[in-house]
Amino acid sequence: MRILGIETSCDETAAAVVEDGTKILSNVVASSAEMHAKTGGIIPEQAARQQIKSIIPVIDQSLTISHQSLENIDAIALTVGPGLIGSLLVGVETAKTLSFIWNKPIIPVNHLAAHIYANWLKVNKKPKFPALALVVSGGHTDLVLMKDHPSKGRGKLSWIGGTRDDAAGEAFDKTARLLGLPYPGGPAISDEAEKFKVKNPNVKLKMFPRPMIDEDNFDWSFSGLKTAVLRKVKEQESKRVKEKLTVPGLAAEIQEAIVDVLVEKTIRAAKLYKPKSLLLAGGVAANKRLREKFKLAISHQPLAIKFFVPPPKLCTDNATYIAAYANFNYPRFAKASRGESPIPWKEIKAEPGLNIVGEI
Ligand code: KG4
Ligand code: ZN
Repeated sequence: MRILGIETSCDETAAAVVEDGTKILSNVVASSAEMHAKTGGIIPEQAARQQIKSIIPVIDQSLTISHQSLENIDAIALTVGPGLIGSLLVGVETAKTLSFIWNKPIIPVNHLAAHIYANWLKVNKKPKFPALALVVSGGHTDLVLMKDHPSKGRGKLSWIGGTRDDAAGEAFDKTARLLGLPYPGGPAISDEAEKFKVKNPNVKLKMFPRPMIDEDNFDWSFSGLKTAVLRKVKEQESKRVKEKLTVPGLAAEIQEAIVDVLVEKTIRAAKLYKPKSLLLAGGVAANKRLREKFKLAISHQPLAIKFFVPPPKLCTDNATYIAAYANFNYPRFAKASRGESPIPWKEIKAEPGLNIVGEI
């Protein structure tokens, strides 16, 4: 089964063709991040305008690269939310039009739940259920349990924790800005932290607080980190400060504070729920230190759990996992002829406020 995935929830315009939910035949991503770097963050209207410019060429290119003719495409999978309304609308209207013209079923996909499916791509052994999944993206931080694929009756995702304020990616982006680093902040902080680590491999990184780390729940709070970093930056500007901290040093401290709490609480949840697989997903999952620390933490636990994390390129927004999600959750519809989409194409609409367990 071959599915064309379309993703336009934020500042990436992406299309991909994926076979049987695991084999990537094409993966095209056009990003307007560089444009947003100039303003230090996303301007929704500009992101939407870029989506309009990119969507047709990106879909066109993904089909060309996949070497598949239209007859070989079984269905169109599409992100309907959450995301920026203007950006989502571009994908929704394009996919509906293509579904009508090409006579293909259309499968509406929850972007957040779909992130998890990057763990099914390019793997020899698929994750086993029950699975515990941590989704860490620019706007969301969610810990969910999966008994099965969510479309199957008993497989609905159950939410066991998440952020109470800023998302993990948002914490990277906002603190990066305080350090004068470009948007998106995650990769920038990671690069700076790496420079520090190379020169100072044994320094203990304990400068910033680890909020809620000892609380008996699976929630996080990242907004305090922003304030703590701002205070430190201001303190550094004062002439009275003797020890001057560097941007790489501060970046390493920020990264360690975010990574520590994410790993600690997720591992605690793994001990309680004893899943067979632990799945990391979302843009922040591309973070080298987070991946490293999860692997280390699991190796130190007597847990019979297999850890999955997608290649960094598949963690950040793209359309491969949108297609993979549709493959494993809606195989019946992907095979069906037109008119048998999970919901009629005319009823598919953008859902900017969808959450990870939200029904479409
Ligand atoms: O999943 P994603 O690509 O888009 C959303 O759905 O939000 O996640 C984007 C987020 C941004 O906050 C970005 O700074 C962060 O992922 N990110 C990273 C890294 N690469 C992207 N954070 C930390 N380290 C990275 N290497
Ligand atoms: Zn995302």
